[in-house]
Amino acid sequence: MNFKFSKRISGVKASAIREILKMMNDPEIISFGGGNPASETFPITKLKEISDDIFNNQANTILEYGITEGDIDLKKAALKFLSRHETVLKDYDEVMVTSGSQQIMDFMSKCLCDEGDIVICENPSFLGALNAFKSNGAKLVGIDMEDDGINLVKLEEALQMPQKPKFIYLIPNFQNPTGITTSLKKRQAIYALAKKYQVMILEDNPYGDLRFRNDPIPSIKSLDDEGLVVYAASLSKIIAPGMRVAIMIGHRDLLAKCTVAKQTNDVHTNAWAQRVMARFLNEVDMDEHLNKLQAVYSRKCNLMLKEMDRHFSKDCKWTIPDGGMFIWVTLPERLNMPSFVKKAIEHKVAVVPGNAFYDDDNKHCQSFRMNFSMPSDEQIIKGVAILGALIND
Ligand SMILES: Cc1ncc(COP(=O)(O)O)c(C=O)c1O
Repeated sequence: MNFKFSKRISGVKASAIREILKMMNDPEIISFGGGNPASETFPITKLKEISDDIFNNQANTILEYGITEGDIDLKKAALKFLSRHETVLKDYDEVMVTSGSQQIMDFMSKCLCDEGDIVICENPSFLGALNAFKSNGAKLVGIDMEDDGINLVKLEEALQMPQKPKFIYLIPNFQNPTGITTSLKKRQAIYALAKKYQVMILEDNPYGDLRFRNDPIPSIKSLDDEGLVVYAASLSKIIAPGMRVAIMIGHRDLLAKCTVAKQTNDVHTNAWAQRVMARFLNEVDMDEHLNKLQAVYSRKCNLMLKEMDRHFSKDCKWTIPDGGMFIWVTLPERLNMPSFVKKAIEHKVAVVPGNAFYDDDNKHCQSFRMNFSMPSDEQIIKGVAILGALIND
């Protein structure tokens, strides 16, 4: 059969990261390429205890079809958790439980974009989101990242284009892939521009609770007083990604359309996973749980940074994240980044070439992404030394 695929999906390439993840099956490879949470932080005992109890006492309720918008107990528990430091639910907002926040990226672009519509994104940005937007026909306009978030002049130029963008996609905390945190000043300025040009913002915050340095910064959602900001809060990185549970908060009119999109997609998020998550949020001391996670991430990040300081040459630059899972390394011009990444794989260390995260992956890029949540301490020490030797070679 000679398949003739739709234009929408033909424009989306297999993720470079997924290709690198495949190599992780090779036990000899030290992978700094993944983007998974540290599996030693999964609260297995508690999740099993809750799950067993649900199967013993309420099996029928989780084995039956559920409500598209999500389990009512989970929505309540999640809102209580997400609202503990700031207001993320406004009078005009609704809440929906989604199958991971990846589904929020899909619904936002499915519900707002026609073929050729523009989505503004940080450059570089999370590949899964960029591919979701593209698969729904969107054209990406990337705005370069600076140390404190996107370039505001370039953002305003993009907002002034004759074709009005549909929304701006942002990851303000410890961004994937750069680890950069958008400053409060920039969050306020971005929101002011969104308001001026009446363009929506999709604020993706899967890493906010993995902060291990400096003080938290208010979300853009908390600044919103017009219904312009949609907030994506994933439970993947703070509980477990395999359960596929995230929370979408946004204006009720938009959420009503996303509910229709969900009905045509997966009907509702897995009922068992939702009920377990609800009880986990209600029964566990979340501050204590998050403190434990932050301690693990902090230790691993600091170890990787220390080893990089020791082994990487002084003409390399890298970000120092306040949380999350990623460090973004920029090589000096004397080195060719794609050849370096290839060489690293030959020496059994995987990192992700930075151009994979750009709106156009043909752009020149000297950077690569390193993940510190997945490798063990020994792998961090060994892998960074190998990369350092290659840089100095
Ligand atoms: C910035 C960002 N957003 C969303 C996701 C997807 O998360 P989820 O598991 O909730 O679909 C990821 C996963 O790596 C991510 O890095």
